[in-house]
Amino acid sequence: MNQLLDVKDLSIAFETNEGLLKAVSNVSFQLHENAILGIVGESGCGKSITAMSLINLLPSNAIVSSNQMLFNGMDLRSIDKNKLYEIRGKDIAIIFQEPMTSLNPLMKVGQQITEMIRLHENSTLKEAKQKTQWMMKKVGLSNVKKLYHSYTHELSGGMLQRVMIAMAMICQPKILIADEPTTALDVTIQAQILELMKQLNKENHTSIIFISHDLGVIKEMCTEVMVMYLGYCVEKADTSVLLKHPAHPYTYGLLQSIPNPKKGKSRLYAIPGRILKLSERPKGCPFCTRCKRATEKCRTQLPELQEISTNHFVRCFYPLDHPQN
Ligand SMILES: Nc1ncnc2c1ncn2[C@@H]1O[C@H](COP(=O)(O)OP(=O)(O)OP(=O)(O)O)[C@@H](O)[C@H]1O
Ligand SMILES: [Mg+2]
Repeated sequence: MNQLLDVKDLSIAFETNEGLLKAVSNVSFQLHENAILGIVGESGCGKSITAMSLINLLPSNAIVSSNQMLFNGMDLRSIDKNKLYEIRGKDIAIIFQEPMTSLNPLMKVGQQITEMIRLHENSTLKEAKQKTQWMMKKVGLSNVKKLYHSYTHELSGGMLQRVMIAMAMICQPKILIADEPTTALDVTIQAQILELMKQLNKENHTSIIFISHDLGVIKEMCTEVMVMYLGYCVEKADTSVLLKHPAHPYTYGLLQSIPNPKKGKSRLYAIPGRILKLSERPKGCPFCTRCKRATEKCRTQLPELQEISTNHFVRCFYPLDHPQN
């Protein structure tokens, strides 16, 4: 399988009033053609900034370093601004959790998609309009002629998210970054949007980086998963392997927290303890303050990410071999 993205040892820190805070440490991942890579973890673990760093969308107080950041063999770290603008939207597109952060409330929604085409393609206004309406239909919007001339406040959350997807997909990007694209939507609409993204992945061969704090959603969507905790990749594997043989206690906890309809209304499992602030990151394993298996070694030494079986990586001194125990 061809690698579209190859990121090695990505680290991100922020200059803040509290000093330099490390937010992401030595994260490596690949995105293969046609794959859907999930990035999962609780709030603040670094999912969004990891994705944003790929297309240089981080705020100015961020300090990014990596040993490699290749897109289609091209070094993303050294390309000039113009090339980056060309890649953004055309080759790598993003859908954010909150559509209103990327849509302009003062501009007709159809026009916003048309502008995207005109920015990246040599087409006439008429052609761009036709393509926009075709894409709007493709993402499940109806009455598109009228909708083209609507403003964002006239659309529901689900419709806005479809517009965002249409805008992201219009130039047939090679990579779609979907950052919690359905969190703000109700369950039925969420299911429809997820289905739509899977369909776009299949039909257009768009590879997807799918970000979510919900392993339940990730397991439905993704071919591979990277689990993050406090800025570290703690586990990475093909989805089926990760679900069957979670090796990191944090992954196991996340799996336990997925609602199981068969178990009825019994209380949902919650991982004990609280998420630490960046300024409180422990010296040893990032998860040691919440892990019941943690020893003195875990509290003082950082485990390496090790490959425990083919393509299954875990950062833990005591990986689980019998998760049911
Ligand atoms: N500009 C900034 N300055 C300082 N810290 C920042 C800045 N931007 C992000 N951070 C911190 O970096 C960490 C990772 O942020 P990020 O937004 O990637 O988390 P996330 O995993 O996407 O969380 P969520 O699920 O809430 O979206 C957080 O602790 C956040 O507070
Ligand atoms: Mg985020």
